[in-house]
Amino acid sequence: IAKLERYRPALHFSPKQNWMNDPNGLVFFKGEYHLFFQHNPNDSIWGPMHWGHAVSKDLIKWEELDIALYPDELGTIFSGSAVVDWHNTSGFFPEEPGLVAIFTHHLEDEDHTPSVQTQSLAYSHDDGRTWVKYKGNPVLTHPTKIDFRDPKVFWHQPSHKWVMVLATGQTISIYSSPNLKDWKFESEFGEDVGSHDGVWECPDLFELSIENSNEKKWVLIVSIGDNPQLDSGSRTQYFVGSFDGNKFVPEHDEIKWLDHGKDNYAGVSFSDIPKEDGRRIYLGWMSNWRYANEVPTEGWRSQMTLPRELILRETGGDFHIVQKVVRELDTYLTSKEDINNVIIGTEDTNIYELDSEYAKIELILESEDASQYGLAIHHTKTQYTSITIDTKDNVLLLDRKNSGKVDFSDNFSRTQKVKLEDTNQIQLQIIMDSSSLELFINDGEQALTSLVYPDKACESISLFASEGMANVVHGKFSIPSID
Ligand code: FRU
Repeated sequence: IAKLERYRPALHFSPKQNWMNDPNGLVFFKGEYHLFFQHNPNDSIWGPMHWGHAVSKDLIKWEELDIALYPDELGTIFSGSAVVDWHNTSGFFPEEPGLVAIFTHHLEDEDHTPSVQTQSLAYSHDDGRTWVKYKGNPVLTHPTKIDFRDPKVFWHQPSHKWVMVLATGQTISIYSSPNLKDWKFESEFGEDVGSHDGVWECPDLFELSIENSNEKKWVLIVSIGDNPQLDSGSRTQYFVGSFDGNKFVPEHDEIKWLDHGKDNYAGVSFSDIPKEDGRRIYLGWMSNWRYANEVPTEGWRSQMTLPRELILRETGGDFHIVQKVVRELDTYLTSKEDINNVIIGTEDTNIYELDSEYAKIELILESEDASQYGLAIHHTKTQYTSITIDTKDNVLLLDRKNSGKVDFSDNFSRTQKVKLEDTNQIQLQIIMDSSSLELFINDGEQALTSLVYPDKACESISLFASEGMANVVHGKFSIPSID
């Protein structure tokens, strides 16, 4: 592996230069995964949006290509999706199927009248390398709505039409179309359910398999913008329910959060994953609007989460999303050390050297009688991130205030928390990269995604217990495989 620039991730996609936010147009076509992204090619802070572009054959190693979409007279290019038009419903592909991008044009007048957001199309005859904007743009406008953006489109087989979910203020509007060009309003969702802490953005609607069953349910993912009045920053909620081509109906009242960490926003899933594969693969922007423009990288800003497979798990009649990093990551890792049944006492210092640019840490921990137990990831001798399981409060705490550079934002040092049902035993999987940590609890039932800015990724880890003992039932530490 080549020597990396400061904070440059080894496993996560980051733009070569300048600013990136949301993933856009995630689609699989002819053996390639496409990742487009919100991009300001002229500065490392947010500005006039373009669609950057990268492709991958295995979801882990990405090659950045030329910019796909540039601003034009209808505005800059905000978030959106891409689909394969297999049956030429659009008329753009008389010869052979190709990609269509459905995105938001964002027009801001110089005299600062309210911005106008409309939905537009572009298509590609060369596997996404070059794009033609549709002459009939925009294809969807609204007379009054100012927040009218982030179209995610999919083919709804039962009703034989394209369906679009669109963020419309603090609701999601659903539209349908036979040809991607003519859109009909179907319904509006969300007025009286879910979190309304901020503006709703970047929706995604898809059917998801239930683990160990042939059944499926519909899932609607909705990102919620930063509300300066609250500590949470930007984050993502989801709903589980049904969809009939016209209306989405949730089957629960409580708010479900997709990630308990600060740094997973605007995530959406890939379109057109082949049936034989069958996975629903998702990735998010690994940052938070609260401090995204201030994170301490130089010349480039932001990275994506690792791609994750999503699945629904039922526990006690309730359904929630389970997330697992795609198995393609395994090729990039090799096992360094396995441990079994190691007692952690209050006096012990159980240290395991890793000294690597990235690492995967898997642990099954059990409390004997400790009030708190967990691990510290030592990035360097003085910089560490700790993960503490508190058996009294039944929470897991991730503390990054000693993880390295933190002073670029007041919010960054705040402890991140996950409520747990059972703190006597816990399974943890952590993917540690140069400037991030993705934690999956109990086989992906809960995720916590967090940026960190240490001088080095991972020197060692140590395990601890307080006011009693804990046990490492099993541990496995993996480091980069030689490629
Ligand atoms: C979400 C978002 C989208 C918008 C884009 C602009 O992070 O605010 O709603 O399309 O970013 O860059």
